[in-house]
Amino acid sequence: MAMVSMRQLLDEAAKGGYGVGAFNVNNMEQIQAIMEAATETQSPVIVQASRGARSYSQDRFLYHLMLAATEIYPDIPIALHQDHGNSPATCKSAIEMGFTSVMMDGSLMEDGKTPSSFEHNVKVTREVVEMAHARGVTVEGEIGCLGGIEDGHGAGGDGLEHLTDPEQAVEFVKQTGVDALAIAIGTSHGAYKFSSKPTGETLKMERLLEIHRRLPNVHLVMHGSSSVPQDLQDVINHYGGKLKPTWGVPVEEIQLGIKNGVRKINVDTDNRLAMTGAIRKVLVEKPEEFDLRAYMKPAREAMKKVVALRMQQFGQAGHAKDYKPIPLSEIAAMYKKEAVTA
Ligand code: G3H
Ligand code: 13P
Ligand code: ZN
Repeated sequence: MAMVSMRQLLDEAAKGGYGVGAFNVNNMEQIQAIMEAATETQSPVIVQASRGARSYSQDRFLYHLMLAATEIYPDIPIALHQDHGNSPATCKSAIEMGFTSVMMDGSLMEDGKTPSSFEHNVKVTREVVEMAHARGVTVEGEIGCLGGIEDGHGAGGDGLEHLTDPEQAVEFVKQTGVDALAIAIGTSHGAYKFSSKPTGETLKMERLLEIHRRLPNVHLVMHGSSSVPQDLQDVINHYGGKLKPTWGVPVEEIQLGIKNGVRKINVDTDNRLAMTGAIRKVLVEKPEEFDLRAYMKPAREAMKKVVALRMQQFGQAGHAKDYKPIPLSEIAAMYKKEAVTA
């Protein structure tokens, strides 16, 4: 099956009342892990690549691995998404390569760290919407900023500094025409989200509910949604790792979000933890081992387990064959019609 529009995938999720995990990839084993989990659970999938992932894999390696995924797993609808595009140029290069969805993260300046103005965000996001929709490609925007990741993409801090203002969210959607909206409700990227077990008050869920009330037809996106499970931390630390005590986003909070308009849930860290733990285990238990397949296979299996579990928890499991993918040219025509009647 050819890669599909993320908009179609999220529209279907909204009809079915479920969420779709968006899992980050950097290499072949991570793509295989996601596709195996999707096949086992019969799930549609969103595979996403950050700028760092595209650079690490020299771009075309990653893209061709994704083409292989569409050939090997023809029954699974796959949307290929640019995670945290920092500029219209980044999104343009993704679209030209064949990504079916892009995130223009104009909540930060092009450096991926400095919070931007509302006007800057609208300007760059609108530019990407025009370019992407003409080719049937989906656009995710972000309003408010996540915390975390000092050396990668993110505003730093604890995730509570730049929460999304619901009124601004409405204006942003009106002025940009994005298909999906990432909101900041207190999560952050990476493993160190919360320094104690989150309570019902930790995440600003009432803000999410308010945004959904005002924008009932917009697909909401939760970034920084790894749960950082204790058992994955334990494996790493048991085999010589040095993770500090930390807590992630409880799955029940994500499920509450899914009941209230969240359709895309971004997960990267949990998979990094699972793979790293599995690799450490082999290297510690079998120090004589030096065939990389001896540790990459268990690493791939560990990630598959996490992804399959999230697919069940988010509700996308069982929905792979619910609908027939629409070609991007038809989606482009739909956007054109929408623009004329607006
Ligand atoms: O947005 C954060 C994702 O986990 C991607 O991280 O930029 O290190 O590839 P990365
Ligand atoms: P985590 O670091 O919580 O996995 O978040 C990933 C993410 O939001 C990618 O955009
Ligand atoms: Zn993110």
